[in-house]
Amino acid sequence: MKNKSLIEQAKKAAEKAYSPYSGLKVGAALLTSSNEVFTGCNIENSSFGLTNCAERTAIFKAISEGHRNFKELVIYTDQDKIFFPCGACRQVIAEFCEDLPITIVSGRKKTERTLKKLFPDIFKL
Ligand code: THU
Repeated sequence: MKNKSLIEQAKKAAEKAYSPYSGLKVGAALLTSSNEVFTGCNIENSSFGLTNCAERTAIFKAISEGHRNFKELVIYTDQDKIFFPCGACRQVIAEFCEDLPITIVSGRKKTERTLKKLFPDIFKL
């Protein structure tokens, strides 16, 4: 693990999740190339399709604060199972990152991937 505090920050972000429908609390911590960290949680809606994933919350926060270059992403849930980022989040991350190390942490397990491995053939205009 490159940045242990990123895991702690992703875990803290998961505590802020608004997920009354699924009950799943997801947190993300995104490290910028200038070493700032943007966190995010999943935010659900009674109109389910409007739900925003934790990873997208973090990346949208960073982009809206003027950051475009990222070094690492950690995704955390307190579940036993590893939850890989959804397709929508992979596409959003790929808009800004050619590649990105992604660490996925659950309560008990941890695994590492790269964006390229998770999403090899991206849609790009
Ligand atoms: N979720 C994330 O936060 N990230 C993902 O990559 C996949 C799913 C959230 C969205 C929703 O609140 C809950 O997990 C169940 O889909």
